[in-house]
Amino acid sequence: MTATQEYFAEKLKLWTGMFLMFYCVTHYLNHSIGIFGLDAVEYIRNIFLFFWRNPVMNFFLPSVAVIHIYLSLSRVIRLASFRGFKSHEWFQLIAGILTVPALALHVSGTKIAHVFYGINDTYTFLSSSIADYTDIVIFNLLMLLVWMHGYIGVKYWMKVNSKYQSYLNQMGMFFFLLPILSFVGVISMFREANLNLLIDPKYKEKVFNSSNPENVDLDKLTEDTIMYFVIPYLFLIILLFTGRFIFFKIKRRNNSIQISYPEGIISKIFPGMSILEASIDAGIPHAHVCGGRGRCSTCRIRVDKGLDQLEPPRQKERRVLRGIGAPENVRLACQAFPKIDLNVSPLLAHDANYKENASEQKYIHGSDREICIMFTDLRAFTKMSEKKLPYDVVFILNQYFKLMGEIIENHGGYLDKFIGDGTMALFGIEEGPKEGSRNAIMAASQMNVELKKLNERLIHDLPFPLKMGIGIHSGDVIFGKMGYKHAKNLTAVGDAVNTASRLESLTKEFKCQLIISKYTYELSDYKFNTIEEDSVKIIGRDEMLDVVKIENTSMV
Ligand code: FES
Repeated sequence: MTATQEYFAEKLKLWTGMFLMFYCVTHYLNHSIGIFGLDAVEYIRNIFLFFWRNPVMNFFLPSVAVIHIYLSLSRVIRLASFRGFKSHEWFQLIAGILTVPALALHVSGTKIAHVFYGINDTYTFLSSSIADYTDIVIFNLLMLLVWMHGYIGVKYWMKVNSKYQSYLNQMGMFFFLLPILSFVGVISMFREANLNLLIDPKYKEKVFNSSNPENVDLDKLTEDTIMYFVIPYLFLIILLFTGRFIFFKIKRRNNSIQISYPEGIISKIFPGMSILEASIDAGIPHAHVCGGRGRCSTCRIRVDKGLDQLEPPRQKERRVLRGIGAPENVRLACQAFPKIDLNVSPLLAHDANYKENASEQKYIHGSDREICIMFTDLRAFTKMSEKKLPYDVVFILNQYFKLMGEIIENHGGYLDKFIGDGTMALFGIEEGPKEGSRNAIMAASQMNVELKKLNERLIHDLPFPLKMGIGIHSGDVIFGKMGYKHAKNLTAVGDAVNTASRLESLTKEFKCQLIISKYTYELSDYKFNTIEEDSVKIIGRDEMLDVVKIENTSMV
């Protein structure tokens, strides 16, 4: 398959799957209406049939199903190894394979019975045909296979799409509730049909005469479906997987390419296998949230040797790599197919989850940029906290942190961290230092205004009003995701950060609210009414730094 064909095949598989899921949703919704009785469900069924059972859909829906099954199976068959499959992938694969016979059995008693044997497959007729509750449970379990297969597909597609990640919970709830409602709907219909039979012993006969005038043997239809479709289908599946097994067994005799990992681990693969498959094959834990579909970027690796011999990234890979701002030597392991020996290093922990794919990922490799940094600190809070109960200290600090956090975010800043009773915030990460400097200074002014209001609200809790000092400076930093495990977040390091911190400390010495480096002040085009200019010595810098001191930021 060429790159373009593969790209379109992946897209087509996704959208045919979505279309089939939409069909399932409307079908389940129709069943759910059964809760309100057979008349209601028949009424909604007419709308359902208007959309789904017409000459266009009669052709289109089965075609979509065939395309989806073909593309899904061909992808699985081409995988060199299943070792990296996670439990949900196994479940989706098995449920997917069993979905075909499950649907065939369902469709043979409904649409096929209608199209080929003239049966009017109403819910009234089908409810009267159900023998007992066991039938209902078996039928719903079969449908659940289809549902779960689709649910896993939709869920993992949403997980790697930042646009939809926030709807995951609602989607999960919907996918959990709908089959339950559908199940209750089917039971309600069955009970109503039985009740009608109790009232009118000829009820079933009447329903059968009107819906199945030819008295077609539905059990025979089911047996025929098993004999002529389900068994050959399962046989074909076994044949396909056996063929796949033999094919790769032969291929593996030609394991001529060597992929070397840090710590001397080596995986030997044959041409056509991806680097992700090489890792999985060698039992090397390697993150691959989207299952190797080139969507999530969690499998990315740095190619330490042999990059020039790798084929350049294809369209799909290029798009993902661009999205995370990856440097040239970073590739997606699932999309890179080596032809010669390579040295690679996986970049994410093997248990990296989809959140690692958030938009902040474009900074994960670290980047040089000029931004504006702000440090704030509460004055004399330590002294005050010694005289307060721990509960009071936590209460006051949380009020203060909430206030600071909101102001920083409202001014487009990124709250880097709280340090004791202080904060570190970054501005202009995306917009650049000019806008960042202006936003930071405006945020500083707002902070002092809001702190005054907080003092008024806490007047009975505070022995003296809270005061703060703020230091702001702009400059080049290294910005990226740093830390370890849960304590890993986006932050900045560099001389400019130290300088901003030092300016905040100097506010104590100079007894003012805010100190901004003159460079930042001029860059921002922001004007305070009263400023005092000075030059200060910053530890670690040879030359003096010109600064602007503002005693009271509310005097703009
Ligand atoms: S596993 Fe998701 S992009 Fe490679």
